[in-house]
Order: sequence, then structure tokens, then C-alpha cells
Amino acid sequence: MTPSSDPATTLLGTAPGRPGSLDLLRQAAEAVRLPQDPAADLIVRLEARTARIGVVGLGYVGLPLALRFAELGFPVTGFDIDAGRVEAITAGRSPLHGIADARVAAAGLAAYADMAAARGCDALIICVPTPLGPHKEPELGPVRAALAALAPHLRHGQAIALESTTYPGTTEEFVLPVLAAAGLTVGKDAFAIYSPEREDPGNPEGTVGRVPKLVAGATPTCLTVGQALYGPAAGALVPVSSLRAAELVKLYENVFRAVNIGLVNELKRISHALGLDVQEVIDAAATKPFGFMPFRPGPGLGGHCIPVDPYYLAWKARELGVPSDFVELAGRVNDAMPAYVVGRLRDALDARGTPLRGARILLIGLAYKPGVADTRESPAIEILRLLAGRGVQAAYHDPLVPRFAAAHGAPALESQPLDPAFVAAQDAVLVVTPQPGIDFAALRAHARLIVDTRGVYRDAAVETGAALPFETRGDFPPPAEPAYHPVIQA
Ligand SMILES: NC(=O)c1ccc[n+]([C@@H]2O[C@H](COP(=O)([O-])OP(=O)(O)OC[C@H]3O[C@@H](n4cnc5c(N)ncnc54)[C@H](O)[C@@H]3O)[C@@H](O)[C@H]2O)c1
Repeated sequence: MTPSSDPATTLLGTAPGRPGSLDLLRQAAEAVRLPQDPAADLIVRLEARTARIGVVGLGYVGLPLALRFAELGFPVTGFDIDAGRVEAITAGRSPLHGIADARVAAAGLAAYADMAAARGCDALIICVPTPLGPHKEPELGPVRAALAALAPHLRHGQAIALESTTYPGTTEEFVLPVLAAAGLTVGKDAFAIYSPEREDPGNPEGTVGRVPKLVAGATPTCLTVGQALYGPAAGALVPVSSLRAAELVKLYENVFRAVNIGLVNELKRISHALGLDVQEVIDAAATKPFGFMPFRPGPGLGGHCIPVDPYYLAWKARELGVPSDFVELAGRVNDAMPAYVVGRLRDALDARGTPLRGARILLIGLAYKPGVADTRESPAIEILRLLAGRGVQAAYHDPLVPRFAAAHGAPALESQPLDPAFVAAQDAVLVVTPQPGIDFAALRAHARLIVDTRGVYRDAAVETGAALPFETRGDFPPPAEPAYHPVIQA
């Protein structure tokens, strides 16, 4: 390059050749290489897929997201405080059911328990848990801890996106002060984004890249950076006007589900009292082509989201002094379902002269929903706890949960094979979660009594006569022995 064509020279009007001017030129050249507009620079590198994406928290949300960015050609760094998880991912093994080892190995993610490598990341996406505290209040310890660990490694030009589900105001209260403390001006030289995940665990097609994604920024520039960050990875983007609005949208989506499941669980109890098959009622209602959406009753709510998120909204509403009656009621109705199910089981056994105490009960499915290995908040755990307290000899079968370590008052157990003799030796089989691959017709052929919380046997004809209240019998293969195999809805 000739001196006259050197942009630094042109910029500064410095005459080369003067004593000390070389250093000045070097500095000036450096200055020219530094981004004049950090947002534009980051967007260009996001579009070129050369920006390094850091994902903090490599769980059900973070790992699929990290893999998605890696598969799109971005350099990706993962962070997780769980050293075992970091080790597995680094070795190309998947720590999660539903994500194949080969996919993790092919992505070749760099993963660390230490956050030092965060400095090299252009965007940091936080996907850590947001559970409840002992009084069902938001427990943002993981978000706070992740931000505190990132703080020393933040730099000019980075974007920080929060994906964890949380109450409106969290990104402003937690992320913005950390950026300010690092001397960064939000919207100018660092970018704060909120973009919640809409993961659907157990869905074999996955959701990342298929489902529209909400995105909001602390400033209009932050939103533009957020759109550039998520644009390639998301199926479609739904920009939302503010961080708080996006946080509330996510909670509303999950509260909508919790409230409707609470309603249908209440309908189930009313149907049982009327001697009606609640599944028939729902199926018939679902033929209405407008203004109705079917939800299915069950043994209660499980997973990391639907049982938890309503309490985040209720907590915020209490702080604001506004009612959140629906939200709290749904929580109460759904939380009461495991006890209701145990009551139905007790009554069904009682009608056959078998006391619940000392009975042999086989639970089908321990995970909180079909197709997942996740037992977090699973109603099966609460059912196991209640049964243990009543002296029941409980066992379970779940092809995705080979063993369960004692937790929340439920005993340690191992999944039992569905051996016909073992099934026939049980006083009752309690269907909690219909995992894929279970032969429910065979189960019915061998079980002495089935108590069905999920409507697995809903194709069975309904009998509502006084002699067999609330029981169903269906067109399943004729059982060997005993001749009478009732199914009770619970
Ligand atoms: N699982 C879902 O279906 C789902 C769906 C939508 C939204 N969400 C939300 O996404 C967030 C994450 O949920 P998840 O199911 O992926 O949780 P998860 O427990 O599966 O994964 C969280 C990961 O974060 C790690 N972690 C915890 N604290 C950390 C810290 N300080 N620094 C780094 N890593 C840390 C954990 O070790 C774990 O690997 C939650 O807010 C949840 O409500 C979850």
C-alpha cells in the first residue's frame, strides 16, 4: 500500500516519514480496523455467519440451539456449570434423550464450565433454568450466577440474549445493570435482547428453526441486532416492541395452557361424578370449527415450564397489586390432580375388596409427558410419594427412565419389564404417562385392573350403568385370565 492510499494516513492527515509517525500510523490503522459502528459490524458478521455464538446453559433449550447455530455454519462455544455435561458434549456425546450422539459429535462444539472464553463470543445466549423457590416464588439464582460469571468477560460489541422464561422486567433488572457495570452503553456498544424459547420436548421434529421466534431488544438497535442473530436460526421472527412485552408473551402462552388444562381437569372430575366419559365430551366439543381448542386431562402438570411459569406471573401480579385469580386457580386445580388420581385408584380397589394399603400398583410412565425422559415436576413423582405414604408396594415401567433416584418423598425405583406374569400379579396398573412403544392392548390383556389418567383407552365403549360407574370396556383383544379387565378413568 502506498502512503497516500493508506486509509489511516488519509484519515489522520499524518505525513509518513516524520519521527515516531510509524507508531502513530500503526495506531491509526488499528483505529480504522475497530468497528465505527459496533451494531453494523456485528450484523455483518452475523449475516456472514462468522460471528461466534456463545450458549450459556446446555440443557433442553440451550443444547438444541447451540447445535442449530453450529449446523448453520456459525462457530459456537457452549458453557455449562455441569462439568459432566461439558465433558460429554466435548467428547461428542449427547447428555440428553432425544438428541443423538452423532449430531453432537458432528457439531464439534467447544464447551467449557469456565466462562473465560465468553470474551471471544460475539453473542451470548443465556438458557439457564428459572425454577421456583420454596414458596413458589421466582428463583433467578441461575440467571444471576450466569451473568455474574460472564461479567468479567464482557466487551464492546457483544450481544447478550436471555432465553430463559421469566417475569416481565427481568432482562431490564438483571442484564442491563451488568452491561452498565462493564462500562458498556446498551444500544450503542452492547446489545440486550430477550428471545424466549418455544421448545416442545418429545416432539421428534424439534422446534428450533421450525417455530416462529419472539425477539425484543432494549433499544431499536438491540432489536435489529436480535433479528440478525436469530434470523438464520429461527423459522420466522416475531419482533415484539419491548423486552417486558416479550417476557409477558412467553408467560401468557404457558399460562394459557395451564389454565386450559386446569379447566379440563376440573371437567374430568365433574364428568366422573356424572358417570360420563370426559374424552367423549372433549372429542364431541372439538368438532366445533371455531372458538374451541381441545385440551386433554391428565394426572397433573409436569416439566420445567407449565407447572412453574404461572407462578412467575402470579408473583409479578401480586407485586403490582392486581389479581391473577385464573392463574393461581389453575395452579391449585392442577396441583390437586395427583391426590385425586390416588383417590380414584383407592376407590377402584375398594370396590373390588382390596385396600390401597399393601396393594401392588404398577405405574406406567414416570416422565412428565410421552416421548421424554424428563421427570422434573412429573405428577408421577407426587403419585409415588402419596402411594409410599399409604404403604403401597409401587413399581413402575418407563422405557425412557430406566431408574429413578429417591426424590421429593418418592422412593428409589428401577423400571420393571412389562412381563405378563408381573403385570397380572399387580392389584392395579395406573397409566400416568403413555410412553411411545408400550403395548397397551397387551397390558390390558394381563392387568387385573387399569386406572387410566390419560384416556389411553378412550376408544373403549362407555358404560355408565349404576353397577359399573365410570368404567369403560373396549374392543381390545380378549383377555386370557381373569375374564374381567375393567378400565377406570382417573
Ligand atoms: N425445557 C423446555 O421445554 C423449555 C421450553 C421453553 C423454555 N424453557 C425455559 O428455558 C430455560 C432453560 O430450561 P431447560 O429446560 O433448558 O433447563 P435445563 O435444566 O435442561 O438446562 C439448563 C442448563 O443450564 C445449566 N446451568 C445452570 N446454571 C448455570 C449457570 N449459572 N451457568 C451456566 N450454566 C448453568 C445447567 O447445568 C443445565 O445444563 C428455563 O427458563 C425454562 O423455563 C424450557
